[in-house]
Amino acid sequence: MQSRAAWFAILLPGALTAQNPFAGNATAADIGRAAFRSICAPCHGIKARGGRGPDLTLGVYDAGNKDEDLFRVISNGISGTEMQAFGVTIGGDNVWRLVTYIRSVATHQAVPAKGNAAAGETLFWGRGNCGACHRVGARGGPMGPDLSRAGRQRSLAYLRESLLDPNADLTPRFYKITVVTRDGRKITGTQRGFDNFSAQLMTMDGSLHSFQRDEVTACDREYVSLMPAYKGLVESEINDLLAYLVTLRGEVQ
Ligand code: HEC
Ligand code: HEC
Repeated sequence: MQSRAAWFAILLPGALTAQNPFAGNATAADIGRAAFRSICAPCHGIKARGGRGPDLTLGVYDAGNKDEDLFRVISNGISGTEMQAFGVTIGGDNVWRLVTYIRSVATHQAVPAKGNAAAGETLFWGRGNCGACHRVGARGGPMGPDLSRAGRQRSLAYLRESLLDPNADLTPRFYKITVVTRDGRKITGTQRGFDNFSAQLMTMDGSLHSFQRDEVTACDREYVSLMPAYKGLVESEINDLLAYLVTLRGEVQ
């Protein structure tokens, strides 16, 4: 089997070299910036400072810190995550231009999360009750999104907003579904499936419910988070939780 590098060299002419042909080139960085704004900004933010995707201005990357590492991750994506492969659609030279742009905005000033991760972990599984709805590794409940990789997937600012204002940007597919059965029971949970004929939802206790829509009295989907807004936590507790979340960098399940 060929090495991965050789494989994408065949697909992407610009990848024939592992060296960035545009390293430090300001014009290439500008072209990269324009491409970034149209295709990457929805997740990584207009200035690459992150959002649902990680902050790319920190100058340190899980994928590796060399230009070729960034090239590889942008070309091939990270399977099982929202980070798709862009190499084939935009071509190797444009991937290098994006790498050049990312380098040009890297500040190398990663601000560590202020809180105490150990205290955050205790709060998460204890009084904060986060584990009732969230999984980390094999532990926790499945109603909310799996947070095993949250520290790698999201920017710190995004995680903070998720805690303080859960409705600001819902995790896709975790919308609120409410079903009223013919015998008058009201069941609320997060979406697992929803179309014109049926709905599947998961309730707090982790059980999955499935309904044919013509068999129930009401079936609604709302763009509302079932996560409580943690306005009651004091700032230091929020910081502790964030410090813990940032450490979560597990494998894709
Ligand atoms: C739909 C959302 C989305 C889009 C669009 C997107 N990304 Fe990502 N990106 C992510 C997520 C989420 C991750 C983290 C995946 C993981 O490791 O779990 C990521 C990871 C990365 C990484 C690795 C960061 C690290 O620390 O290793 C780089 C580099 C990157 N993206 C660059 C880009 C570029 C350049 C574009 C545009 C061509 C782009 N991304 C488009 C969501 C997105
Ligand atoms: C009652 C269930 C429930 C509890 C309790 C809960 N969450 Fe959530 N959480 C959710 C749901 C549902 C979502 C997805 C909708 C959304 O984006 O708000 C979510 C989303 C999130 C996200 C964004 C996930 C992503 O990657 O997109 C984070 C971070 C988060 N929760 C952290 C926490 C923390 C920390 C606590 C404890 C202080 C907590 N949650 C308690 C249900 C819950």
